[in-house]
Amino acid sequence: MDLATVESRAEPRAFSPKHDLPEEYRTGATRMLQFHANSEIMGAYLEKPFIRQSPSLDRKLAFSAKVQDEIGHGQLLYRAAEALGVKTREQMLDELANGEGKFLNCFHYEMTDWWETPMIAFFVDGAAMKRQATLKNSSWEPYAHAMDKICFEEGFHIKHGEDVLRELATGSKREQKLLQEAFEEWWPRILQFFGPTDDQSTHHDFMAKVGLKTASNDELRQAFLNSYVPKAEKYGLEIPDEPRIHYDEDAGGYVLEEDDLDWEEFFAITKNDYEPGLNQIDTRAAAQEAVEWVRTSLDASDSPAAAAAGGD
Ligand SMILES: [Fe+2]
Ligand SMILES: [Fe+2]
Repeated sequence: MDLATVESRAEPRAFSPKHDLPEEYRTGATRMLQFHANSEIMGAYLEKPFIRQSPSLDRKLAFSAKVQDEIGHGQLLYRAAEALGVKTREQMLDELANGEGKFLNCFHYEMTDWWETPMIAFFVDGAAMKRQATLKNSSWEPYAHAMDKICFEEGFHIKHGEDVLRELATGSKREQKLLQEAFEEWWPRILQFFGPTDDQSTHHDFMAKVGLKTASNDELRQAFLNSYVPKAEKYGLEIPDEPRIHYDEDAGGYVLEEDDLDWEEFFAITKNDYEPGLNQIDTRAAAQEAVEWVRTSLDASDSPAAAAAGGD
């Protein structure tokens, strides 16, 4: 199938492994899926310490389930990427460990305190949900299919994040203050979740034409602001003065001054050139190395020699 045919047939879930797709489509979809899968894994690493650090058994169980979900999302997406025939799952995991793999800006920052956790589990997962809901209409059927399960589970993650947020927001004065400080620190990063404005986005047009993306960065950021600014205010959080945001009747929602955000830091992050993020990559690399023996054993048990030895 040539690119013009792909564009003319780019409906939701139109293409699957049975189609002979052009290289541009397969590499574009692989880049998008690999980024998404890497982000699921790296997000899980940020939250993993809270399986221990959460203040109650219920919270520990919830974090344990969430971290397992996120790792599972990563694996599903690596499989959906692998089906494009460009890279294997092992290649993509190796690229993540050696610092070549790219992932979401928010997961390049460290998260050390309990009162920061709703910034990921409520706001970042909430932002992710805005994007992921649109990906159920991706033209790559394995991607859209993976999103059915992922979005279902993300719904629980957001409820969990909101419950931690509510508890802190209605807690002691100290908890409220720490929550507000965490919000001020994370808010600009969360706003950058959707990336640069559409006019600066290099891949958007192609991805939209072939149906891999069905909404632009600007549309998604707008949808996020319209629903999450009121949610933050509902829990007593004060929206920081910078970056400037105002409500515009004519625009039908909140308008963000993009130039108030630190794009230099953002673009350093997109090149894996930001120090805290490098620590996260090293953590991931060490974890991958630590379980290398499991992979080797599984590969050995799959080999023809092993099958022959145990094959009676
Ligand atoms: Fe996820
Ligand atoms: Fe999640």
